[in-house]
Amino acid sequence: MKSIDLNVLSRACVRNLTPYSTARDEFEDEALIKLDANENPYESAYNRYPDPYQKVLKQEIAALKNVNADQIFLGNGSDEAIDLLFRAFCDPGKDNVVSIAPSYGMYKVSAGINDVELRLAALNDDFSLNLQNVNDQIDGNTKLIFLCSPNNPSGNVMNVDLVKSIADSFEGLVVIDEAYIDFSQFDSWTSQIDEYPNIVVLQTFSKAFGLAALRLGMAFGTPDLIRILNKIKPPYNINEATQNLALKRLEDISEIKVQVTEIIEERKMLSEKLKSIKEVEKVYPSEANFLLVKFDEANKLFNFLIEQDIVVRNRTNQLGCENCLRLTIGTKEENKSLIESIKQFYTANT
Ligand SMILES: Cc1ncc(COP(=O)(O)O)c(C=O)c1O
Repeated sequence: MKSIDLNVLSRACVRNLTPYSTARDEFEDEALIKLDANENPYESAYNRYPDPYQKVLKQEIAALKNVNADQIFLGNGSDEAIDLLFRAFCDPGKDNVVSIAPSYGMYKVSAGINDVELRLAALNDDFSLNLQNVNDQIDGNTKLIFLCSPNNPSGNVMNVDLVKSIADSFEGLVVIDEAYIDFSQFDSWTSQIDEYPNIVVLQTFSKAFGLAALRLGMAFGTPDLIRILNKIKPPYNINEATQNLALKRLEDISEIKVQVTEIIEERKMLSEKLKSIKEVEKVYPSEANFLLVKFDEANKLFNFLIEQDIVVRNRTNQLGCENCLRLTIGTKEENKSLIESIKQFYTANT
């Protein structure tokens, strides 16, 4: 088992911080008369502050994900967890982080906001992990390595043995962003948290769970890591409505599973249809709810699709993604319209 002292790894200002103590921290039980938090006493569904540690919701998530509740942090989207990891572990102007490339754009944005250098480790041509490229970027000030798996925008998962070898040798935190894991046949890294206490796993309610508008993300890690994130988060970062609506959604797990199965079937169908179009140069294998597709003339196709009222993500300027569009899997009807429009584009242009 890997050994790491996350308190030592964290920034001195965070280690020495006395966090804000909420009224709910100081008195947790249900009192009949609540005069401690300067709330409005008249009932609306939301006149009281929410549970700052989302205990009820975490119990449900713990059961679903087969982890302990003290291994879960909840954020205002996983984007909040990404930002808090920078703030907890990276000294501005001094420390650096490594991200695979191409990958999710928020790692760079969060790095920029926090004045932390982001170093890129290019993936191989087939978007598989290049261990040498990752190791080449690491130095004594590297605090975080971002590995997105399944990766956005390429859709593939990172090789398990290579990730383990990074986690084994790296003295900082390996952040494995699993926003798309529910669409994948591979297991989550959440089961490895005890073995690798320097792993943080990010997941979200925004994709398979269909709650992107609520803004609810999960970070799974050792209780030490969760304590550090809780210490620096805004006190009531998950509002009451979000906590309640997420709990309600968790009652519908079978419906979520049906939707995920349909999306995976549609992904297969869309991939086959695209491969049958001769101007489609490559459909990359995907473990996510999107396909990365190399077209000839991606920019022209992108603009044509917009004229047809269909918006996809143009990734042509990302490393290794020249002429690539990222297509989210929609409903059967939406996917049908997409294929028809792509065929129409090529008929009109030949
Ligand atoms: C890889 C990855 N991580 C995280 C996120 C953001 O998730 P959330 O909506 O929970 O902030 C996204 C959103 O597209 C993503 O692609």
